Amino acid sequence: MLNLSKLATAVAVVVAAGAAAAGEVEVLHWWTSGGEAKSVAELKKIMEGKGHTWKDFAVAGGGGDAAMTVLKSRVVAGNPPAAAQIKGPGIQEWAREGVLANLDATAKAEQWDNLLPKGVADVMKYKGNYVAAPVNVHRVNWMWANAEVLKKAGVAAAPKTWDEFFAAADKVKAAGLIAVAHGGQNWQDFTTFEDVVLGVGGSKFYQDAMVKLDQKALTSATMTKVLETFRKIKTYTDPASPGRDWNLATAMVIDGRAAFQFMGDWAKGEFTAAKKMPGKDYICAAAPGTGNAYTFNVDSFAMFKLKDAGAQKAQADLAASIMGTQFQEVFNLNKGSIPVRLNMDMAKFDDCAKMSSKDFVATAKSGGLVPSIAHGMAVSPSAEGAIKDAVSQFWNDDKISVADGVKSIAKAATTR
Ligand code: BGC
Repeated sequence: MLNLSKLATAVAVVVAAGAAAAGEVEVLHWWTSGGEAKSVAELKKIMEGKGHTWKDFAVAGGGGDAAMTVLKSRVVAGNPPAAAQIKGPGIQEWAREGVLANLDATAKAEQWDNLLPKGVADVMKYKGNYVAAPVNVHRVNWMWANAEVLKKAGVAAAPKTWDEFFAAADKVKAAGLIAVAHGGQNWQDFTTFEDVVLGVGGSKFYQDAMVKLDQKALTSATMTKVLETFRKIKTYTDPASPGRDWNLATAMVIDGRAAFQFMGDWAKGEFTAAKKMPGKDYICAAAPGTGNAYTFNVDSFAMFKLKDAGAQKAQADLAASIMGTQFQEVFNLNKGSIPVRLNMDMAKFDDCAKMSSKDFVATAKSGGLVPSIAHGMAVSPSAEGAIKDAVSQFWNDDKISVADGVKSIAKAATTR
């Protein structure tokens, strides 16, 4: 005979488990371009597949400065999202405030220590505990080129040095096209700048100037050469570049209005979304002079302390999903980056991603692997912001002499 009281208990247990198993997860990010939106939609799908509710908290603005401002006000108001796209040394700053959740239970169950390069795992931990989950590895020192435009202009191959680059850019100009598609926003100026520091000075110089913020390097003759080269690039951009979003600059290369763009491989997400093929429609190559180096940018989600049990469960599921093989593959195929999880099958990835993966491993051994300062991986957010402003002022104001530009960047680098 059916035992009604036992049944009632069983139903109650199932209902309670159901309530704890599903929750809302509010996720702050700045992935609003075509390729970015497609990528984040995959995470939403995975979370909804697990029964959770996805609350999208997108704050437009490449590079994420606007998103970080909004995040601060939400946390100060005592109402943080479950997860926010926070990277590099910024993770430590948030953890010091005592607002981040401890993800060790998930990390242990999923064996994150065995699945991540140690250098990446260390960035995700505060005082030995995981507080963030890494998503991908973006390479920043890329140069994107429209294959047809290069052909039209008589440029045989992607330039490997800055001299070759300027010769190629002259040919593009002579063919009546825009040589460099640039989005004039401070973080984009800074992205191009770090390519030039790396390409002109090499990875040891980059480490000294952009990671250690060593005054000797920052005021050296090499830095003068960097600023001269950086300023010369500007002469190949079009007058409409100020204020332009990065993805609109990528669209100029996709459409054949421009030849080159210096941008991290989230730009490849735009080519992919436009159904363009690497090697055929477009070319991915290391920025001039940086073939033996790799500026890395690891996107990650830091998780905030929450009270609601359902929300906590959803948050743990989000962390586990981010590091899962399904997400690592599908997200990165769309995003232009490569999986951060080790030993992933790269069969479905294109040649640019395969090159990124190979170079990531090779440069980690050779010493050419360096953190991107323009994308929050190298120094504190305050030093980064100050240097970014000085670099952008120099880019935007041709009246600032190279000597003064060097001085103001070096001074900005003393910001702590
Ligand atoms: C982020 C990328 C993003 C890009 C443009 C970078 O700082 O790491 O994920 O696509 O900014 O918004």
